[in-house]
Amino acid sequence: MKITARQGSLTDASCDVLVVNLFEGVKTPGGGTGAVDKALNNLISSYVIEKEEFKGKLNQMYVLHTYGKIPADKILIVGLGKSEDFSLNKIREISSKVIKKVKSLKAKKVCTILHGAGTAGLEDYSCARMIAEGAIIGNYSFDKYKTKDKEEKEDKKEIETLEIVELDSSKLESINKGIETGKIIAEAVNFARNLINEPACVATPTKLAETALSIQGIECKVLEKDEVEKMGMGSFLAVGRGSSEPPKFIHMKYTPSASARKKLAIVGKGVTFDSGGLDIKPADSMRMMKEDMSGAAATIGIMNAITQLKPDVEIHGIIAACENMPGSKAYKPGDVLTAMNGKTIEVDNTDAEGRLTLADALYYASEQNVDEIIDIATLTGACMVALGYMAAGIMGNDEQLIKNLIDAADKGGERFWQLPMYDEHKEELKSVIADMKNCGSRYGGASTAGRFLQEFTDEKKWAHIDIAGTAWIDKEIKELSKGPTGSGVRAILNYILSL
Ligand code: BES
Ligand code: MG
Ligand code: ZN
Repeated sequence: MKITARQGSLTDASCDVLVVNLFEGVKTPGGGTGAVDKALNNLISSYVIEKEEFKGKLNQMYVLHTYGKIPADKILIVGLGKSEDFSLNKIREISSKVIKKVKSLKAKKVCTILHGAGTAGLEDYSCARMIAEGAIIGNYSFDKYKTKDKEEKEDKKEIETLEIVELDSSKLESINKGIETGKIIAEAVNFARNLINEPACVATPTKLAETALSIQGIECKVLEKDEVEKMGMGSFLAVGRGSSEPPKFIHMKYTPSASARKKLAIVGKGVTFDSGGLDIKPADSMRMMKEDMSGAAATIGIMNAITQLKPDVEIHGIIAACENMPGSKAYKPGDVLTAMNGKTIEVDNTDAEGRLTLADALYYASEQNVDEIIDIATLTGACMVALGYMAAGIMGNDEQLIKNLIDAADKGGERFWQLPMYDEHKEELKSVIADMKNCGSRYGGASTAGRFLQEFTDEKKWAHIDIAGTAWIDKEIKELSKGPTGSGVRAILNYILSL
């Protein structure tokens, strides 16, 4: 699907479907929708609104044929909801729902009004960006493993073009910029979703490394097991020992052409399958554990987007990738591990493996001369219990960084919710024979995990995002269909763009 913008009038737009809109409660549409209404002899105001009771509720849709009155074949009217509740995030959601609808109408060429830029008075750049983000996120599907539906798939008409039609030519430049940025961000989200959707037998640590290496415009090195051993990453290496898949330590680096305003490290949890190890998970909990590399997938997606967004920020993407399996060489409860920073960890539970991989990845990140470290991880079931799939948990040692990330998430249509970290959480981790153990009691498990990670950040500014609940959803929410969400990609990219 190509997304473009063009100067012109909606009433002259030749396409399969023309998308216009209506705020809730409006009886006589104005702007572009009003012009279309007039060209159709008031069909929208006197029939659709009056007789068909189209109320303009958020995401409400109505399709009508034009029977040749204007060049567009069909009109899709979408409800924008109450004007006082309207926001840029709503445009993204609406755009995603519209794309699904026009797809079901088998449209190839779609023209659209610039939602939000009329009476709502939002900036053209942002409105266009939200339309692009929503359309690309909404158009996502993952059907590469469906052979039976292949014929059907070939028959399935894909949308060829989505064109924003705007009367005022002076707005086109900012609209085009918005489309471009929205496209890069949404494609990064879908990039992550694709990697997470891949089964664990495909998305192995080796595959993650290959994917990272394939990104143009960054440096990328992949450290093999013996190098990682020499560097002293005893915590990370323990986790992968029970698997026949070799672990990979991935370090991507983007260097801006101008001098860097800031140096940032993004550390993603890359456990490509979490069986729980010897403390094996019950079947129901294990079923979806291919998603345990969602942080890594987000990190690679972000690095890919960065090469196109080209911010003046130095960015490191770091992933300690391995598989947590109960093979004969597997690490055991009671083992004592020595992390790269010299601290010793008693293994209390082999299923608290993410923090062990992150411990070494975070310390490695802290040695890269960066100003800030952000880690993103499907870390704890406890975070999922606390916040559900509605919000990711965020914690860290720097309130400003946390606040900035929460704001960036809001702007991206994501939600981060801060969880506390107290001294008591550290006390939970006391071990009799080592510096700490890898988990505490069941209660407050998301915070205890965060507090564990803090031991490896070398007092650098750091924020930890727990996406265990948000990485995968079981039903459609706003612009996202069920499945992997690319959680964190939009938030972190927005944060980077804000620097
Ligand atoms: N990968 C899981 C966390 C998880 C749970 C991610 C659900 C996505 C959905 C993590 O490695 C884990 O197993 N955590 C344990 C920690 C416990 C043993 C302290 C948990 O949350 O149960
Ligand atoms: Mg686990
Ligand atoms: Zn895990």
